[in-house]
Amino acid sequence: MAWLTFGRLRPVHVNGVIWGAFSTLFIGLCHWVVPRLCGVRLWREGGSWVLLAVWNVNLAAAAGLLLAGHNRGWEAGELPLGNVLVLFAVLVALTVQMLMTIRRRTETPLYVSLWYLIAALVWTDANLVLLMVGPDHLPGINNAAWHGLFIHYIVGLWITPAGYVLIYYFLPASIRAPIYSHRLSLIGFWSLAFFYPFVGIHHYLYSPIADWAETIAIVSSMMLIVPVWTVLQNFFGTMIGRWGGLGRNLPAKFLIVGSVMYLIGCFQGSVQALRSLQEPTHFTDFVVAHSHLTIFGTFIMWAVAGVLYVWPKLAGAPLASFRLANWGFWLTTLGIGSMALVLSAQGLLQGFMLMGGAEFVDTVVTIRPYWWVRTLTGLSMDAGLSLLVLALMKTSWRRRAAA
Ligand code: HEM
Repeated sequence: MAWLTFGRLRPVHVNGVIWGAFSTLFIGLCHWVVPRLCGVRLWREGGSWVLLAVWNVNLAAAAGLLLAGHNRGWEAGELPLGNVLVLFAVLVALTVQMLMTIRRRTETPLYVSLWYLIAALVWTDANLVLLMVGPDHLPGINNAAWHGLFIHYIVGLWITPAGYVLIYYFLPASIRAPIYSHRLSLIGFWSLAFFYPFVGIHHYLYSPIADWAETIAIVSSMMLIVPVWTVLQNFFGTMIGRWGGLGRNLPAKFLIVGSVMYLIGCFQGSVQALRSLQEPTHFTDFVVAHSHLTIFGTFIMWAVAGVLYVWPKLAGAPLASFRLANWGFWLTTLGIGSMALVLSAQGLLQGFMLMGGAEFVDTVVTIRPYWWVRTLTGLSMDAGLSLLVLALMKTSWRRRAAA
């Protein structure tokens, strides 16, 4: 049963979330957002069906190969080379499709979502070239340094700008209000472009990588407060005077809860990048709390918001059951919120035990009860997402029955 071991399941989970869950939802939602922001149909839209098929077959094959033990050794970059090449080909094709659509647009302004879309696609095409050559061709400690950059380009130059594409479109659309400040959008975009490229080495603090390079990563990690707080100010500013209808507006509710988690998750990120706090948190579940708060708590929540907005419109019917979907919202939110809390607590406990000289295995035994709670929080997220899917399916079934 080697394929059921943690070393094989974990890369399936990590790559499944990055490419399977978030990216697939994002690419699908771009097919709604981009034509609307450009005022034209997508360039060569028939080609999207081919990309969809290749993308999904490739991910299924990659999952099988990872379970069979293939692994290129870079965290979040474990996919076999053949799968990386296909992923790259699909993303380049998608980049060309989106750029050609933007070029032929009839809407004069280039909306904020489109700046982020162009940036996310171009940066990630380049980052995938690094993934093709990096693991096998970079010697020694440089391999680790480049891996730090690669993994942070996945979260900072793919998932982050892609998530911004979604919230910058779906927040104003779902509450029917313009975005709060164009100037803040500009500051957010350029500060992300300027600071993110330097932060990756904060994954390797206290390593043999040169101290000055680690210090640059730490300073840049602090500076990330600028893009994070400016975009958040823009989202919460957009809500001014419109909080009233939030309770029954599911897409907006997911977007706002995701934004609160973004604030907490990024604050946690900035503090754990400091050498003094890196000591008790590295190699502990504190980091796992951070990664789940940001990737699930923020970006998956934002993507789900987009789906909840688009699906009923595509189905041509209102959401079949608000009650069901609202239960889905609460179970998901409470699940991820309490998961972040319990993982942070057990991470700090483990970290301070390790600093006090405890054996690693003793720390694992101590935090065992916390893992039971964590499992329950995960089940709550599973149940919440399942209810949401059920509500969406019911919407389509009801429409079909009516037809
Ligand atoms: C102000 C923003 C952020 C800062 C300063 C920051 C900082 C950090 C640091 C220092 C670590 C390494 C912790 C360690 O290994 O000890 C880390 C890990 C991680 N961060 Fe962030 N982060 C930020 C935002 C984000 C966002 C927005 C995402 C997701 C899109 C994200 C995803 C992750 C993930 C997945 C890991 C775990 C990587 C691993 O397992 O080794 N972070 N972050």
